[in-house]
Amino acid sequence: MAILVTGGAGYIGSHAVKGLLAEGERVVALDNLSVGHREAIAALETVAEGRLTFVEADIGDRDTVRRTLRDHKIDSIMHFAALAQVGESVDHPLRYYRNNTASALTLLEEALDAGVARFIFSSTCATYGEPGPEFIPIPETCPQSPINPYGRSKLHVEHMLRDARAAATDAGKPFAFTALRYFNVAGSDPDGLIGEDHNPETHLIPVVLQAALGTRKFITIFGEDYDTPDGTCIRDYVHVCDLISAHIAALRALKPGEQRAYNLGIGKGYSVREVIESVRRVTGVEFEVRKGERRPGDPPTLFANPAKIREELGWEARFQSLDEIVATAWNWFREHPDGYRS
Ligand code: UFG
Repeated sequence: MAILVTGGAGYIGSHAVKGLLAEGERVVALDNLSVGHREAIAALETVAEGRLTFVEADIGDRDTVRRTLRDHKIDSIMHFAALAQVGESVDHPLRYYRNNTASALTLLEEALDAGVARFIFSSTCATYGEPGPEFIPIPETCPQSPINPYGRSKLHVEHMLRDARAAATDAGKPFAFTALRYFNVAGSDPDGLIGEDHNPETHLIPVVLQAALGTRKFITIFGEDYDTPDGTCIRDYVHVCDLISAHIAALRALKPGEQRAYNLGIGKGYSVREVIESVRRVTGVEFEVRKGERRPGDPPTLFANPAKIREELGWEARFQSLDEIVATAWNWFREHPDGYRS
């Protein structure tokens, strides 16, 4: 038996592979390397003790997926492989529906056909769209009404999972799934083995760290006129290792035929300005900050109500302070200013 991690060479997927290996699991990482890194797999192999197999393939490659599920007797899947940039999804919506929705459908069909019992799906708080003030902090019961193709491409998969699970249960099959709706994932492996490497980088914490490193001349704040205490957007930053421990807890808890959904955030919001101040504190470096226009599609305030996952899975983030999260990211970027190419 092995666990399939799709997107296992990417930022979050590679941290999942490391977490599962540390638990003694056998892991098959499947990745088409369109945004993932072969170097991440090479690094993970050094700690895998022969329990990691890498398959270079797309999740939409039905034959390879089918063969992989059967050859490795896959019982559980953690599905991370996806495109995840909101702006890009607005410019290239069909690319998102192809990758995140249509290819996930192929993966799901093959998973059901192969008798996979557990499926952990990497969903997003972007499925909630712009929740009204009565839904801040955001509970899982908040209506899912995404405002961009990225959020919709992921919500479609939640719907497919629900329908497929119901039909599988009716047919006497044990298929179960958990959708984990991430807030802003940040930080890197504290051991420094793997880390965050996006090209282009658009996420706030890495962008600010690049300004501190000098690989970027300045950072631009996208809007200072939001209805928040300092006028900049508020987000919930969850450390990638905490995110993975939640995946492992979700996998262990999932019983045949169940469907679950949890928000994955720490339940505290930080503004863009607070992130910038945190980077200054952690790095001790001054850098230029410019004021910019609002970025289309950015809701002012998003942070999770993490009560459900705490109560049902006993999960709580170990990294509770923004400075600690930023420090792990800083360690990685200082060592790898040019990502895995460094
Ligand atoms: N920001 C800046 N300047 C930058 C980059 C970001 O001011 O150079 C701001 C953004 O406007 C936003 C905040 O920093 O207010 C966080 O932006 P990120 O791009 O880091 O993250 P998002 O909140 O936009 O996106 C994250 C995930 C997405 C997910 C989304 C759900 O990266 O995959 O949360 O809302 F869809």
